[in-house]
Amino acid sequence: MGDRKQEQREAFRADDPAAGPLTTDQGVEVDHTDDSLAAGERGPTLMEDFHFREKLTHFDHERIPERVVHARGAGAYGFFEPYESCAEFTRAAFLQDPSVRTPVFVRFSTVQGPRGSADTVRDVRGFATKFYTSEGNYDLVGNNFPVFFIQDGIKFPDFVHAVKPEPHNDIPTGASAHDTLWDFVSLQPETLHAIMWLMSDRAIPRSYRMMQGFGVHTFRFVNAVGKGTFVKFHWRPKLGVHSLVWDEAQECQGRDPDFNRRDLWDAIEAGEYPEWELGVQLVAEEDEFAFDFDLLDATKIIPEEQVPVRPVGRMVLNRNPENFFAETEQVAFHTANVVPGVDFTNDPLLQARNFSYLDTQLIRLGGPNFAQLPVNRPVAPVRTNQRDGYHQSALHSGTNYFPNSLGGGCPAHAGAGANAYTHYAERVDGAKIRRRSPSFEDHYTQPAMFWNSMADWEKRHIVAAFRFELGKVGTMAVRARTVERLAKVNGDLAAQVARGVGVPEPSGTEAADKLSSPALSLESLGGDGSV
Ligand code: HEM
Repeated sequence: MGDRKQEQREAFRADDPAAGPLTTDQGVEVDHTDDSLAAGERGPTLMEDFHFREKLTHFDHERIPERVVHARGAGAYGFFEPYESCAEFTRAAFLQDPSVRTPVFVRFSTVQGPRGSADTVRDVRGFATKFYTSEGNYDLVGNNFPVFFIQDGIKFPDFVHAVKPEPHNDIPTGASAHDTLWDFVSLQPETLHAIMWLMSDRAIPRSYRMMQGFGVHTFRFVNAVGKGTFVKFHWRPKLGVHSLVWDEAQECQGRDPDFNRRDLWDAIEAGEYPEWELGVQLVAEEDEFAFDFDLLDATKIIPEEQVPVRPVGRMVLNRNPENFFAETEQVAFHTANVVPGVDFTNDPLLQARNFSYLDTQLIRLGGPNFAQLPVNRPVAPVRTNQRDGYHQSALHSGTNYFPNSLGGGCPAHAGAGANAYTHYAERVDGAKIRRRSPSFEDHYTQPAMFWNSMADWEKRHIVAAFRFELGKVGTMAVRARTVERLAKVNGDLAAQVARGVGVPEPSGTEAADKLSSPALSLESLGGDGSV
């Protein structure tokens, strides 16, 4: 298959601006665009000047709302190809044939800051991939951490309100160093695992090209005979995983706030195409309860010692977008954009996301027709009875209802063939409750595992990050409560952080102050003395 997405994009190209003189939106040639039409040399501007009014009105409406999270991003096109057929686990067409390349668009992002914020802040990074498959669009909307901060999407507004700048003064932006976040963290210990990642060097990637991606949730593959297999997705960068250190990150924020997006753009322009391997952790349905955590809990990983990552294909990004707004800004990812062979689980975070993305895009992209935009448009044929609405750009004809014996434009039948999406027939029964399985309550085992897996120098970076961020919190009770939570992860970690942020060490935590190690002082980490 050629690059069907690129061929499709050609059809959307605007008229060649170099081909002739300036016109209005109506195609009328314009003789003058520098002076508005006025009543006399020193008179008022005339309403009659339609070119003047159209030009200003269009400009006045150029901005759309930025994403409520992940507002700042950088994107690129490329392709995905599987290494071998995954038919044993999934019927998804894009995972069957190594000779078939599926076009993709990927958007990397920071989460907390606004569109104009700096790239190299301490934050999670989004890693969202749209596969334009022959069976429709599949979006893998992931992050560069394998775990998330909360277990249930109903808490997402609370979490994001706590992460964002404070409501009264919109301060601070950038690093997540303020009272509200740490108040939330200290009151919601389910955040701790992701917080450990956030305080690690993973939160300041050197380059998007050197960043891992994770689907985070447990999803479900379904094969041609309807058998389900649990699956976690992993993207591994060919260049390896590399981070900045804190003083580099801070310097980049000042010298080049576009550090990561420029790096991605320049590499692709130079023909150094970044590449990732897609890997999957597969768990048989029979083994759903074989772990001491719940597969539906997005604050937990499946340790790779227990379930190794199996490589299934590679993705290469080889083309920069032509227009940032049209493509990177207007792209709309959605966890519910799945294709036959990929299905959901009952992870309550995933279920909430399946509602939230379409909902927010209806306002961000101005109504229900944003799937018609060039970057969102599938390469698979689209035949629906959906009509009208803001920004409708398709010329539909004929009837638009089902069932329909008159024909004339409306799809005559719903797909019943092998290509139709059928939801996995998972058995569900139970009382309506707001409770999860008991392992959802274990907030400390995996953060401790993360801490224990770190080398000494990585631990020093984590302690320094906690001291820097928590040291900015004005409310001492919040500092103390956070340290108490950390004591349940690791006493040594808690004691070192406590010493740096001026709160009592939780009892029973005795630790040498490893930060005094000559190998790496706080100064060399760019700390600001807040410790
Ligand atoms: C945007 C990932 C949890 C709501 C994004 C984006 C990514 C992402 C990568 C940016 C997409 C882009 O580049 O356009 C994740 C991951 C999550 C998570 C990996 C947890 C595993 C949630 C939850 C909610 C949510 C729980 C709400 C219930 C949103 C919204 C946007 C967004 C509203 C903006 C979308 C837009 O305006 O197009 N998320 N997210 N996310 N996310 Fe999430």
